[in-house]
Amino acid sequence: MKKTSQHGEWSSRLAFVLAASGSAVGLGNIWKFPYITGENGGGAFVLVYLVCILVIGIPIMMAEIMLGRRGRQSPVNTMRDLAKEAGGSRFWSLLGWLGVVAGFLILSYYSVIAGWAMAYVVRVGSGVFDGVTADGVSSIFGQFVADPEKLLAWHSLFMILTMLVVARGVKGLERTVKFLMPALLMILILLVVYAMDQGSFQQAVSFLFEADFSKITSDGILTAMGHAFFTLSLGMGAIMVYGAYLPSNISIGSTTVIIALADTAVALLAGLAIFPIVFANGLEPGSGPGLIFQTLPIAFGHMAFGSIFGTLFFVLLFFAAWTSSISLIEPAVAWLVENKNMSRMRACIWSGLVTWFVGIGTVLSFNIAADLTLFGKTFFDILDYLTANIMLPLCGICIAIFAGWVMSKEATSDELNLKSPLLHTSWLFLVKFVCPLAVVIVFLKAISVI
Ligand code: PHE
Repeated sequence: MKKTSQHGEWSSRLAFVLAASGSAVGLGNIWKFPYITGENGGGAFVLVYLVCILVIGIPIMMAEIMLGRRGRQSPVNTMRDLAKEAGGSRFWSLLGWLGVVAGFLILSYYSVIAGWAMAYVVRVGSGVFDGVTADGVSSIFGQFVADPEKLLAWHSLFMILTMLVVARGVKGLERTVKFLMPALLMILILLVVYAMDQGSFQQAVSFLFEADFSKITSDGILTAMGHAFFTLSLGMGAIMVYGAYLPSNISIGSTTVIIALADTAVALLAGLAIFPIVFANGLEPGSGPGLIFQTLPIAFGHMAFGSIFGTLFFVLLFFAAWTSSISLIEPAVAWLVENKNMSRMRACIWSGLVTWFVGIGTVLSFNIAADLTLFGKTFFDILDYLTANIMLPLCGICIAIFAGWVMSKEATSDELNLKSPLLHTSWLFLVKFVCPLAVVIVFLKAISVI
């Protein structure tokens, strides 16, 4: 077994924490979490999501980082080698492949939405929203997404920027995240303070934290669970490949807890910044993917120095998306470098082109092809549902099953090196029984079998 990665290593624990949090904290926290919470009725959804983070997300994240560090290669090759080492079937490497496909699909739409954030940097910065009413802000958003050329241009620019960082490898990733994560947290806190002062804060707090289970459906529960995977970047090899670059002396358990806490904190802060504005302006919490683009500009348009804070916010949102998108494509790039003998640059160009092309589908699904639906879902909706609600949880439980059932207890305890045997036994219990069962039950409930 190789003990070092051919792609390099993180220079410190902090670098890994920042890179992994950079992957975890992204559009999922700030753009997606608020709008799916709005669509699924609030409190009960948030509670299910938090429980999923705790009992499914954290143990599976530990498993993924552990597998990555033990294999030290792209997820496809890591799974192949670890399966061989444990005497398991070579079909386990398919898991790596499923992750690569999920990464392409997610990045293809992720990049389009990140493009929206970039476009909003320019809009907010040039004062377009100054003093504009809630209706005005909504109509500006509507006009923007109705224009496929604009969306395509921003999507293309974002893809180029992502591939540029990936082409520079581990060092490139490290430098980018070091300053951005703390800055993002600061501006979110500032927005929450604004929302407390100017918005319907009390109403937002009840909406987010009072669980009324009559408001959530079994599909909502599936969405909450899928989002736990999505927001922690689990079930597609992103965290696994980052684990492959983790030095051996760093503790996986405590590092995972820090990343999960940071990720959850950002999502909740985003909720607390957005919903007070939603309620104060009589907006619809369930208005979908445009939610933050239709709410936050109202706040920025009315607060002192709003265009400066607003610009900063969308810059940071773009950065958060950037540091996540890098990890979405890294498993594919690492595999191309390892198996096809490609330079990192070439690998980036090929994988970037494929992703960009699939992204055109999402661009059109907000305008020309908005009526082209299957089961009432547009191309974008289908990609989102298929990846977050099905592929990530499915791969996630396979990872749990592999770590719990296929690998030996000695191997996992050697690699995880948890402080006490009791902690290790608890982790094993979660990945062996709780995670797979929970995911299967949620799946069966969503297709109404139980
Ligand atoms: N975790 C990221 C977010 O919340 C998205 C992501 C999913 C990144 C899967 C990598 C892998 O935005």
